[in-house]
Order: sequence, then structure tokens, then C-alpha cells
Amino acid sequence: MEEYAELARILDGQSGIAGLELNISCPNVKQGGLQFGTDPVMVEELVAAVKSQTSLPVMAKLSPNVTDIVAIARAAERGGADCLSLINTLLGMAIDIENRKPFLANTFGGLSGPAIKPVALRMVYQVASEVPLPILGMGGITNTRDVIEFLMAGATAVSIGTANFVNPLVTREVLDGLRDYMEQNQIASVQELIGAALPHGLPKKGSA
Ligand SMILES: Cc1cc2nc3c(=O)[nH]c(=O)nc-3n(C[C@H](O)[C@H](O)[C@H](O)COP(=O)(O)O)c2cc1C
Repeated sequence: MEEYAELARILDGQSGIAGLELNISCPNVKQGGLQFGTDPVMVEELVAAVKSQTSLPVMAKLSPNVTDIVAIARAAERGGADCLSLINTLLGMAIDIENRKPFLANTFGGLSGPAIKPVALRMVYQVASEVPLPILGMGGITNTRDVIEFLMAGATAVSIGTANFVNPLVTREVLDGLRDYMEQNQIASVQELIGAALPHGLPKKGSA
């Protein structure tokens, strides 16, 4: 926890940094990472510790490896997070049947890509319904349709990771596709799509 705060202090005031994304959800590192992101008390403390050391906007990156993602998002909000990003990878594993051993050196590792999209979308939808912070949505996005789903679930921005390994041009293609979709459906601003599928729209600040 001290190292997160120290890093925030060192990065504060460095040129060229627009904000800090706080990875409190890394499943691949033995010490640190996941245990921070799965405990609401630690999430609140950690975000508050970082916020106290920086004037930069702080985005907390949430782990999906929890029972109640909204409780974690609320804890990050209480700690002073300016925005949230979700989801990080789901814990998974593979077994080498010849050697009868787990494939990964750490036994478990992060699962990403299209397989996790429904989980990611559900979590963005749940958090966007309850917590009045902007969300950077991600998890399995591979095409324009996926992006529109995340926006409609309440994400204000999206991020594409794994799909770049398959198609390095994916982000450009998705941008073009989004423009086409908006033209065809006479949508003037992407703002019209954000939270469109939420039953009560996005929560207002102070209403949660
Ligand atoms: C190779 C690889 C490395 C990653 N490294 C990080 C990391 O260092 N920090 C982090 O917060 N998330 C990391 N992630 C998680 C991604 O940022 C993203 O949350 C997740 O993969 C889901 O999105 P995607 O399905 O579009 O990849 C990594 C993912 C992959 C596939």
C-alpha cells in the first residue's frame, strides 16, 4: 500500500501524465494485486492513500473475481476515485495432460478476450446503475457491436486489449464502424448511447 502511495507521489507533477490508473486487480503477481481489489476496506484505503499523494485524476481498475462488484466500486468511490475501469481478467487455468501439471507457472492466470465479454458487460451494467462515476469499460471487445453494447450498459469510454493480438487494426475499424452506426441511426452524439440500456439511466452524483 505504501508503494502505491509513493509511486503516486513521484508521478504527481511529472510532465505528460494525464491521470493514474490504479491496478488493484492483477491476478498474475503472487504478492500484491488481487488481494487489494477483492476487499472493500482495502480498496477504499488504497484509493484514499493514492489520492492523498496526487493531484492527478485517479481511475481504479476493478477485478471481476469478486461476488459483489458494486460493493467494490462503491468502496473506490468512497476512497475518492474519479473514475473506474472494469473489468480486469478473470482467474483461469489450463492443465498440461502429458505432464499432469498446470500449464502456467503461477497455476492460475488471467483469462481475457471474447469469452469474458458477457461477464464484463454485466458488471459494467451493474456498476453504472449504482455508482455515479464515469466508467472505462472493457473485457472481450472485438467489434463495433461490442463497443455499442458497453456504451449502452453505461460505459463512457471503452478499451480494447486482447483483440489487438488478433487484429492490430481493430480500434480503427471499430471507430469507423461506430461512425457508420451513428450515421445510419441518426445519432448526433455518442452521449446518446451512454447508459441507453439502463432502466433508470445513469445515476446522478450524490444520488447513490
Ligand atoms: C497480455 C495481457 C497483459 C495485461 N496486463 C495488464 C496490466 O499490466 N495491468 C492491468 O490493469 N491489466 C492488464 N491486462 C488486462 C487488460 O487490461 C484487460 O482488463 C483485460 O484483458 C480484458 O480486456 P480484453 O478482453 O479486451 O483484453 C492485461 C491483459 C493481457 C491480455
